[in-house]
Amino acid sequence: MILVTGGAGFIGANFILDWLATSDEPVVNLDKLTYAGNPENLAALAHDARYVFVEGDIADRALVDALFARHQPRALAHFAAESHVDRSIHGPGEFIRTNVEGTFTLLEAARAWWSALPQTEKAAFRFHHVSTDEVYGSLAPEAAPFTETHPYAPNSPYSASKAASDHLARAWFHTYGLPVTISNCSNNYGPFHFPEKLIPLVILNALADKPLPIYGDGQQVRDWLYVRDHCAAIRRILAAGQPGETYNVGGGGEMSNLALVKAICALLDTFKPRADGLSYARQITHVADRPGHDRRYAIDARKIERELDWQPLETFQSGIEKTVRWYLEHADWVEHAQSGAYREWMTQQYGKTHD
Ligand code: NAD
Ligand code: TYD
Repeated sequence: MILVTGGAGFIGANFILDWLATSDEPVVNLDKLTYAGNPENLAALAHDARYVFVEGDIADRALVDALFARHQPRALAHFAAESHVDRSIHGPGEFIRTNVEGTFTLLEAARAWWSALPQTEKAAFRFHHVSTDEVYGSLAPEAAPFTETHPYAPNSPYSASKAASDHLARAWFHTYGLPVTISNCSNNYGPFHFPEKLIPLVILNALADKPLPIYGDGQQVRDWLYVRDHCAAIRRILAAGQPGETYNVGGGGEMSNLALVKAICALLDTFKPRADGLSYARQITHVADRPGHDRRYAIDARKIERELDWQPLETFQSGIEKTVRWYLEHADWVEHAQSGAYREWMTQQYGKTHD
């Protein structure tokens, strides 16, 4: 089986659903259920014997040790993190605790367990650390996209904490030989994306006739990748990635925030026109910029394409259409995510409480 951390979040949930749709290998999901952890994302697996949910903290060494001993995973896919840049600006402490100390705890627990394995299992074990392109910092408009050897220059507390965790993962390979792989991926979008992030926020604010907040001039550029393409890349790395290697993952879909928001408005104009017949684009509102806001991220994904034969299946247009339709078709999920009712889901489903 494999151990997944942070599987109740946006990318982790997509990863688990796709994993169990393409394989019968069981998954244990360790997730603390912070505000970003929504067990409703995995409601389809509630009665699936291949899926085990454990509510807990990756920084809890005794718990992580017990999970290794009990489930004997052949691999770990580490998604758990505090992930929202704006939250990291207001309260960086939790980012250091989960992203840095939590990753350290997982690496140490994995190392202790892995060291005692027989030689063949030891060689086959994988610790996959999921990271972000934000560790590389901001690119000039004409600069070449980030390769795996681009210097680290994180600018936000979020990206600094992710950079620190990447360095720990790297060091555990070089110093102890733990079979670590790392992926640095661009901005994801798709189903189950928590509504504080730009794309779901814009879709839902548009439908609610609220302002669509664009930070600063909206000319910041991101490289958007459909989440299931990211999940497929991680499956390829777990299957064929080389220990000690980093793989950049991206969609080649560079776009300014303003162009992105206009594209979403145009889709909504077609799928669910405003009652007055005007475009949703009229709700676009420029607001104060994010402090330290990175201007541009872009990924050079040629290494994973060449070495692991991975390619994104979705274009930006096909992926964003699926995403907009998903939000239109999942009004209950949206309502629970916005009202906080998803936090009651565990209690309803399992008669279990959590904080
Ligand atoms: P998310 O915020 O949606 O989900 C994070 C999950 O981790 C939640 O379920 C949360 O409950 C859990 N978690 C947080 N702290 C924990 C702790 N101490 N112990 C156990 N579980 C904990 O994040 P996401 O967008 O799904 O991102 C997943 C990973 O992918 C992160 O490591 C992030 O840095 C990375 N990443 C994200 C993007 C993106 O565009 N969202 C892009 C590249 C990389
Ligand atoms: P976000 O989804 O928070 O991802 P990240 O900061 O990790 O790239 O934001 C994507 C881009 O959208 C980023 O440049 C910030 C911008 N943004 C806005 O303009 N308005 C918003 O309300 C939000 C949440 C983000």
